Amino acid sequence: MKKGKFIVMEGGDGSGKSTHTRLLVEGLCKKGYAVFSTCEPSHSEIGKLIRRYLSGELDAPEATIASLFLADRILHIEGKGGIKEHLEKGVNVVCDRYYLSSMAYNCMSESIDWVFNLNLRARDLLKPDLVIYLKADEEETDKRLGKRESMEIYETKEFQRKVLNRYQEAMDRLGDNNVKVVSTVASREEVAKGILKIAEDLIAEESG
Ligand code: TYD
Repeated sequence: MKKGKFIVMEGGDGSGKSTHTRLLVEGLCKKGYAVFSTCEPSHSEIGKLIRRYLSGELDAPEATIASLFLADRILHIEGKGGIKEHLEKGVNVVCDRYYLSSMAYNCMSESIDWVFNLNLRARDLLKPDLVIYLKADEEETDKRLGKRESMEIYETKEFQRKVLNRYQEAMDRLGDNNVKVVSTVASREEVAKGILKIAEDLIAEESG
């Protein structure tokens, strides 16, 4: 049985990531590929707790939040009905956010080292086969964030600027050739087509 491919979507808030994740999943399904669409924070009890921190309802040190994200991630991979189970059944997985998000969001008060090492040295952490990083126009992103009604703690313009720098730092440091940077400046249809092509090429790679 051929294993599925593990595809991750990344980008700052307001980058169009949710839309492009949905379009990618729809596109792959239409082409007949088996796809499990999922996201982080996951729907586990840990994920629910994380959402309470993100909404500002609860407060915690940054290191606690980063650790919760890692705990959620491992459960999401290893747990029943999780990422690993799907990949082993030959189902492709599209995950909205993964460890690059932790590196970009959860270590603002100090250097990236701690969160970087926490994730990359964690037992049972799966490396994605492909990461699509959406690079949005900053002005466009600011506009989209400004229109959102329920802002999460990270959805401020200042924080998002730092997030984009951290993404860049993390990607440079990882130096992985499985990360594809996709500009979202073109039309939504064109961007979606480009992302679908990258994903399909990967899925077709070893199945031909
Ligand atoms: P997002 O992906 O924008 O989804 P939603 O549509 O539910 O708002 O939000 C998830 C938030 O979680 C986003 O602000 C980034 C944050 N996050 C982290 O801080 N660290 C992480 O490791 C992950 C996966 C997400």
